[in-house]
Amino acid sequence: MCGIVGYIGKMQAAPVILDGLAKLEYRGYDSAGMAVYNGKEIRVEKSVGRLHVLENLTKGGTTMPGTAGIGHTRWATHGVPSDVNAHPHCNADKTIAVVHNGIIENYIALKQKLVSKGYKFLSDTDTEVVAQLLDYYYNGDPLQTIAKVLHRVEGSYALGMMFADHPGELYAVRKDCPLIIGTSDDGNFMASDVPAILKYTRSVVYVDNQEIVRMTADEVKFYTVDEEEIQKKVEVVEWDANSAEKGGYEHFMLKEMHEQPKVVKDTFSPRIKKGEIVIDELKISDKDLAAIKKIFIVACGSAYHTGMTAKYVFEGLARVPVEVDLASEFRYRNPILEEGSLVIVVSQSGETADTLAALRMAKDAGCPILGVVNVVGSSIAREADYVMYTWAGPEIAVATTKAYSAQLVALYLLAMKFARVRGKLSDAGLAELIENLKELPAQIEMVMNNREEIQKIANRFLAAKDVFFIGRGIDYAISLEGSLKLKEISYIHSEAYAAGELKHGTISLIEEGTLVAAISTQPALYAKIISNMVEVKSRGAVVFAVTNAGNTEIEKAADYVIYIPETNPYFTDSLAVIPLQLLAYYIAVGRGCDVDKPRNLAKSVTVE
Ligand code: AGP
Repeated sequence: MCGIVGYIGKMQAAPVILDGLAKLEYRGYDSAGMAVYNGKEIRVEKSVGRLHVLENLTKGGTTMPGTAGIGHTRWATHGVPSDVNAHPHCNADKTIAVVHNGIIENYIALKQKLVSKGYKFLSDTDTEVVAQLLDYYYNGDPLQTIAKVLHRVEGSYALGMMFADHPGELYAVRKDCPLIIGTSDDGNFMASDVPAILKYTRSVVYVDNQEIVRMTADEVKFYTVDEEEIQKKVEVVEWDANSAEKGGYEHFMLKEMHEQPKVVKDTFSPRIKKGEIVIDELKISDKDLAAIKKIFIVACGSAYHTGMTAKYVFEGLARVPVEVDLASEFRYRNPILEEGSLVIVVSQSGETADTLAALRMAKDAGCPILGVVNVVGSSIAREADYVMYTWAGPEIAVATTKAYSAQLVALYLLAMKFARVRGKLSDAGLAELIENLKELPAQIEMVMNNREEIQKIANRFLAAKDVFFIGRGIDYAISLEGSLKLKEISYIHSEAYAAGELKHGTISLIEEGTLVAAISTQPALYAKIISNMVEVKSRGAVVFAVTNAGNTEIEKAADYVIYIPETNPYFTDSLAVIPLQLLAYYIAVGRGCDVDKPRNLAKSVTVE
């Protein structure tokens, strides 16, 4: 997520903005910039890299005098990290400056329209389109112009704007991205999040969707997109600075679990157009996609687990053979990469050493590489032949949750695209799958609402020594992720097992009180998993089951049951993983573990 800070008042704006952006660094970013009105014109300074580069460039903001300005830390979505892609973005004569958090989904069409009108673009970003569109419609009245532009852009945004011919005013607006306004005797603030302004004020207004803000040094006014003035409530922030970075959540991991509905929606919605799956950024023709004979999905850790799930989805929907490999194994096993193979590497960070090495090995063997990556401009994103980004925003907690969920959705979309171009998915079948996808965000929200019940269950197993996760088919892939989540943050030993494999050895480990988590989301396998549950229960296990709503038969073999909403069997991982994330989280919290920074682990394993 990008970070926005704006200020107008008695103080010099640049130092206030730099200070505010520093408090938003936790959000992750790759470049930063500021625009300040210096009495004559809007001055813009921006640079790729850490905030200190901008601080040095502007000597702590002192080279940018003025009492009104906007600033930004950029988490790249469209356009690699670079000086020119950094925000603020301006119109040609720099009389309008814009900073933006979010994604303008229809920026390509808008850009084409503006280019046809003679507009020139300097950057690859979607945000520059907003600056130029404001210029195109500008009639001297910022409020009217902003309202007109809002009726034409689609997507999610929090925007900060300045107009050189209105030097005593700043403007802001939001849709689906957070934006707050701070008020004080020294002036008024806009920011993406509370930490940026806590030093100056605790009086804040939470801006709601499509509310336009006009602020001067002395007052703040709010308007609808129809330019009607509205009154907003000023609230007092009680948080301390540290908890404010986590949006009031105790840990980043919990905050990021709660972000899963949004990131799932952000990942699929721009890629569903007129009832078809459209993955423009891939630049692979349908014909070339249809010609692919075999797919290798290669990754590490949780990313590998999304590949295990994706195998079932690709093979089930598109009938294309899929092999899934741990990158650290793939790179040494001399795989047979025949003509017509495609390697899909999955990576949140885009910097995992083993995955990058596997990519290079396959590429050297002449195999095309598709990267499913979260960090724009990362090594894997740059070296893959094709890239499909998961728009999960920066993930701070070491244990991945929202990026994992976004990776699943990206792989679902790819599988549906493959099925479509191979003639394996009818119009009706595609429409149903798209409907199921669109229901996922609300359904994830519903499953998250079980967290208190799951916390109670978790508190019974804080002293557990061994925990087993079992499932069949996609449920086995889900079990792998559930087991890893528990291990990596609670330090309890855990194993995931294909349920049918238990009796071939591991069941000897089941003792009185051993916790077994059974995942059962595949109706065709309900009866099978129940018999496995009976097997472990008869040896003393305590069974925690996750299953589809309505499968109440499972209650006869389980001690605890969490039901997930009905969805397509291919998409159940997106829902069943939520209770497992929460179980791991609450057990780790109960054990006093450092949930966001578990011992021995790094967020990105850039060494072998
Ligand atoms: C998952 O919670 C872990 N943080 C870890 O397994 C991670 O998924 C793995 O290291 C792969 O990282 P990547 O997605 O950045 O490549």
